[in-house]
Amino acid sequence: MRIVSGIQTTGNLHLGNYLGAIRQWVAMQDTLQPGDDCLFFLADLHALTVTQDPKELARTTVEMAATLIAAGIDTDRAILFNQARVPEHSELAWLLGGTARMGWLNRMTQWKDKAGKNREGASVGLFTYPVLQAADVLLYRATHVPVGEDQKQHLELARDVATKFNTDFAVELFPLPEPLISAAAPRIMSLRDGSAKMSKSDPSDMSRINLIDDDDTIVAKLRKAKSDADVLPETMAGLAERPEARNLVTIYAALAGRGTDDVVAEFAGQGFGAFKPALADLTVATLGPIRDRLTQLLANRDEVAAELRKGAEKARTLAAPTLRAAQEALGLQVS
Ligand code: TYM
Repeated sequence: MRIVSGIQTTGNLHLGNYLGAIRQWVAMQDTLQPGDDCLFFLADLHALTVTQDPKELARTTVEMAATLIAAGIDTDRAILFNQARVPEHSELAWLLGGTARMGWLNRMTQWKDKAGKNREGASVGLFTYPVLQAADVLLYRATHVPVGEDQKQHLELARDVATKFNTDFAVELFPLPEPLISAAAPRIMSLRDGSAKMSKSDPSDMSRINLIDDDDTIVAKLRKAKSDADVLPETMAGLAERPEARNLVTIYAALAGRGTDDVVAEFAGQGFGAFKPALADLTVATLGPIRDRLTQLLANRDEVAAELRKGAEKARTLAAPTLRAAQEALGLQVS
């Protein structure tokens, strides 16, 4: 197994990232068999698809790396690095640009959402974003990619690119990467709007729980989270028309490692006045230790930055043979 996944370095890591992705990464790293590899990276090149403050980007990259370590990523077992330090990502993305089709990229919902009506004013990078993402996974000949549900379409595109490249150039270079989507938390929603996903880019900080939030902030955000005045039903089916309530129960169940039906049954007949404090306790108990480790790590940013440099060296040794094989398949004379 070759496991690869990344996180874009903008904003703060939040509970959605944790439950949808990072927690799975830690679990996979903990069950690696000999010969398996895990690579996790900070997608700082993807961050460039919208204008960034350079100082802020450099800071965020190190802070996010620290957050991943605090959440349990172990740099002795997993390769942790930032994408920009492994230039093979950009190079393979260019090579795959000849394979990916405009029509495929035009259909990407993220492109449609983020560019909106202003396509002429959107960056070229925002449009070709999924090609770089395909390169990220194909570069390591990844077999499994643990992500939240919102990344599924990008991974389908990576599979299409891999299939077309292998066919066009009659090679068996790229295995088809399998998305691994968390069953418990495929899509955690905003605390303010049950129809929008919890996101780093939501202008309202009240919409998400950041992994750096202190206990009081977590409690306050959950107390103010949108819910409703009804009591909880006996089963999840009773929450079909109550998206905010469903989201809070999903978060509870995911944090507790329990089934959602089990959780609603426990609170059946009670309102959010009783449920929210219990959810807040559970959230603080899970995220508190991560935040405390993070605070310690941030006191020593140079060590985190050094880990990223070491990780990039390891990643480059795995990336080089694939890039070379792609260059050969394409007839490029590079040596
Ligand atoms: P990003 O940075 O938006 O999110 C990182 C990971 O967190 C998951 N996630 C969520 N899961 C559940 N509920 C949510 N509300 C939620 N929000 C985010 C995402 O699905 C993702 O797994 N394009 C990617 C980064 C990337 C990447 C890659 C991922 C670049 N190259 C290669 C996998 C493989 C992104 O912006 O994720």
